[in-house]
Amino acid sequence: SVKYLIEKLEANRILSEDEFRLLITEISDEELAFLKERACSTAQKYFDNKIYIRGLIEFTNYCKNDCYYCGIRRSNKEVVRYRLSREEILNCADTGYSLGFRTFVLQGGEDPYYTDDFLEDLIKAIKNKYPDCAITLSIGEKSFDTYARLFKAGADRYLLRHETANEEHYKKLHPPSLSLQNRKQCLVNLKEIGYQVGAGFMVGSPYQTVDHIIEDLLFIKELNPHMVGIGPFIPHHQTPFSNEAAGSLRLTLMLLSIIRLMLPNVLLPATTALGTIHPEGREMGILSGANVVMPNLSPTYVRKNYELYDNKICTGDEAAECRYCLERRINRIGYRIVVDRGDYKPLSY
Ligand code: SAM
Ligand code: FES
Repeated sequence: SVKYLIEKLEANRILSEDEFRLLITEISDEELAFLKERACSTAQKYFDNKIYIRGLIEFTNYCKNDCYYCGIRRSNKEVVRYRLSREEILNCADTGYSLGFRTFVLQGGEDPYYTDDFLEDLIKAIKNKYPDCAITLSIGEKSFDTYARLFKAGADRYLLRHETANEEHYKKLHPPSLSLQNRKQCLVNLKEIGYQVGAGFMVGSPYQTVDHIIEDLLFIKELNPHMVGIGPFIPHHQTPFSNEAAGSLRLTLMLLSIIRLMLPNVLLPATTALGTIHPEGREMGILSGANVVMPNLSPTYVRKNYELYDNKICTGDEAAECRYCLERRINRIGYRIVVDRGDYKPLSY
């Protein structure tokens, strides 16, 4: 039965392909509630009722890539492009620090304007000013040497979703200039260098099948990343996928719970995309086993231009508004935001 599979997943932290298929396709609403309850209780065992916050600084929306799903893809000529200066980025960090953030996530399109020298200097400046903070980079695929340099400069973590672990599916989401093989190699390199690494994928991206999702789960299990970022695919009206359906809330929550049971101590965000497809999506994510939220620290004057998908939430809000809004939301469901770097802690067994 499905209930037995959930118990088996909790005990063994893995299922076979066939078992995953059965679980994902046959689970009833009642069984899903049980899965979420097991995932939540696992999260609480490792993190208590603590929720870690990460301040997201979307510092450039220029991108040399042309991913078919992404609103800031190179071919989207309607986007008002922006780049934040070193000073603007440091200002975001100042605001963030005073709001209690101890992790800054520097995210952007793949923008060659920001050279290794620039990034190295920026990372050092942030770390020098805020030695008690972690820096997470999310700036796409780079060479081993660049990753190593930025790590040496003080970057601690790196988010690079693999997007889909299936070769054919990857080709349907990306132009030929991008390869899944390189993306996976980047993840391996980042891990080898010593970063805390985040992989992940979009739920319900065009052409995704249940078998693809199972491949994603098995890939994640094998990579054993420190963080996993998953959220629903949401169409953007100026992309080739403008008419595709968004990923479902139910499936996203189910997968958050499954990942929590597979990797009990993983850092698992309730994403902005999840908050976009449902007004209480992030709360539901936490109640499915997520333990991280990543509110936006970007200046309000650029926020609406970092539109990866339609109707992205919080694009009109000040950093402080989001910080306190989230605090209320999280307290309401019995959790609390902590002022903490929220580093990955290895399993003791
Ligand atoms: N350029 C970096 C990279 O490729 O990793 C970081 C920025 S990229 C915009 C961050 C993530 O946004 C991607 O990994 C992708 O999963 C997600 N994303 C892009 N378009 C999306 C969409 N339409 N719906 C949901 N998520 C999307
Ligand atoms: Fe941004 Fe609620 S988190 S307004």
